[in-house]
Amino acid sequence: MRDYHVAVIPGDGIGQEVTAEGVRVLDEVGKLTGAYKMRYDYFPWGCEYYLKTGRMMADDGLKILKEFDIIYFGAVGFPSVPDHISLRGLRLPICQGFEQYVCQRPSYLLPGIKSPLADKKPGDIDFVVVRENTEGEYSGAGGRAHRGLPIEVAVETSVFTRTGVERIIRYAYQLAQSRRKKLVNATKSNAQQHSLTFWDEIFVEVGQEFPEAQTERVLIDALSARFVLRPESLDVVVGSNLFGDILTDLGGAICGSLGLAASGNINPERAYPSMFEPVHGSAPDIFGKGIANPIAMIWCGAMMLEFLGEKQSADLILRAIKAVTGEGTALTPDLGGSAKTPEVTDAIIAQGRGLAK
Ligand code: IPM
Ligand code: MG
Repeated sequence: MRDYHVAVIPGDGIGQEVTAEGVRVLDEVGKLTGAYKMRYDYFPWGCEYYLKTGRMMADDGLKILKEFDIIYFGAVGFPSVPDHISLRGLRLPICQGFEQYVCQRPSYLLPGIKSPLADKKPGDIDFVVVRENTEGEYSGAGGRAHRGLPIEVAVETSVFTRTGVERIIRYAYQLAQSRRKKLVNATKSNAQQHSLTFWDEIFVEVGQEFPEAQTERVLIDALSARFVLRPESLDVVVGSNLFGDILTDLGGAICGSLGLAASGNINPERAYPSMFEPVHGSAPDIFGKGIANPIAMIWCGAMMLEFLGEKQSADLILRAIKAVTGEGTALTPDLGGSAKTPEVTDAIIAQGRGLAK
C-alpha cells in the first residue's frame, strides 16, 4: 500500500464544501482498491485568513507545501477581498512558484448530462485543453502610472519565453500522442504579431518530434465558434494562459455544468508538488446552501490519483461518477436535480463500492 502526504487547501466559498467531499471519496477508494492511503494536512489559507493576517497564505507557504506529494485545492476568492489580491496571494504564487506550467482541463460529456448543445450524446464531447499556466497574459508584468490624472496609463505585458512555450507545447503533443493524436494550436497570431507568431513557430518546431500528430492552427475566435459548433472534432487543444482560461469555461459549459469541470496544475518534471482544483471557483452566490456540485472536485481527485500513478483507483472514481450521472437520481441543482452536496458523494461512494466488487 502506497502512502501519500496531501496538502489540502479548501480555500474560499464552496471550495470548503466540496473539498470535504473529495476527501471522503479519496479515502473510500483507497480502502476499496487497497492501493494507497492518504495523510492530509489542512491549511486554512484564503480570504478569511487574509482578513485576519493581511496575507493569503503563510509567508513560508511555498516552503511548507514543497514537502508534500500533492496539493488538493478547493477554490480561492470571496467578495470580502479584491480578486486580484486573493488570486495573486495564493493560487498564482503556487502555480508559478512550483512551475506548474501545465493546466490540464478535460471536457467530457458524461452520461445522463444534457449539453446545452443540441443532439450530443455521452462521450461526443471528449477533449482536453492544455493551458499554459505560468506566464503569457498572467505574467504580472506591467504597471500603472499617473493615477487619477487624464494621462493615467495601465500597461500589462504578456510574456512568452522560449522555455515556457516549448515546454507547454511539447506536453500537449505528448498528451495528444496518448489520445487520438489530434492537436489544435489555439492562436491569434494575425493580431498578436510578436508573441503569437513566436508561439506558432515553436508549435511547428516541436511538432517535428511528433510526426504522427495531426495538427491544426486555429485562431481563437474561430476556435470559440468551433467549440460550440463542432466540439466532436477536438481532441487536445493547446493555448496560452488567458486563451486556455476562457476556452475551459466554455468547455465546462458545453459539457453541462461548470460544477463538473476538473483541472490539474501540473509540474510534469515532479520537481515540485502538483495541484488539483476544480474550474468552478468559490461561487459565493451558492456558498453555505449545501448545493454545490462536488463532482468536479471528486474528478480532480481522480486526476490527482492518475498523476500519482494510481490508475486503477482513478478509473474507479470516473466509472462511479459516470454511473451516478447516468442514473440521474443524485444530481445537484446546477444539473437540474435537487440533491444536496453530500448526497451526490454518497451516491458516488455507493457506486464505487458496487463497481469494486
Ligand atoms: C480559472 C479561474 C482563475 C483564472 C481565476 C479565479 C483568476 O478562472 O482557474 O480558470 O483565471 O485562472
Ligand atoms: Mg477560468
